[in-house]
Amino acid sequence: MHMKIWIHNFSLFLTENFQLVVPSTTKEPEVSLGADFIIPCHLSPEISAVGMEIGWSNDTACVCLYKDRKVTEGVLFKDRVSLFTHKLREGNVSLRLKNFRLSDIGNYHCQVISKDRRENITVRGE
Ligand SMILES: *[C@@H]1O[C@H](CO)[C@@H](O)[C@H](O)[C@H]1NC(C)=O
Ligand SMILES: *[C@@H]1O[C@H](CO)[C@@H](O)[C@H](O)[C@H]1NC(C)=O
Ligand SMILES: *[C@@H]1O[C@H](CO)[C@@H](O)[C@H](O)[C@H]1NC(C)=O
Repeated sequence: MHMKIWIHNFSLFLTENFQLVVPSTTKEPEVSLGADFIIPCHLSPEISAVGMEIGWSNDTACVCLYKDRKVTEGVLFKDRVSLFTHKLREGNVSLRLKNFRLSDIGNYHCQVISKDRRENITVRGE
């Protein structure tokens, strides 16, 4: 009984302590106009992000928001963005941008909110 309670607390502790990680790549990612582009990002440790709030934005606009287990596309990105919702459970909050355009070049910010924890990471693109 004691053990169960302890494990429960331990998982709560983990849930509230995570960082966002964008894996560093050895070579610059290449993308062709019109192709799909994935901006990788995951939680560390790899805990589930299913119940969290995930916001992706560029320097001026909302790209995509995941809240209450629903994905809302930013108006300027309608029909062009998605998250790998089946991978949120593994803490994978990567963004997929379809039909890459020149105007997509720039910085992307990912913000993940869980209870009292808020983490940001910026992916620079030039
Ligand atoms: C953000 O994305 C929108 C839609 O593609 C674009 O019009 C805008 O210029 C972008 N902002 C920046 C700072 O890149
Ligand atoms: C997250 O999912 C994307 C899309 O399948 C994949 O490209 C990426 O490698 C995954 N990241 C991790 C850390 O598993
Ligand atoms: C995270 O991003 C939000 C929205 O872009 C911003 O208001 C906040 O100051 C950022 N926090 C940090 C720690 O960078």
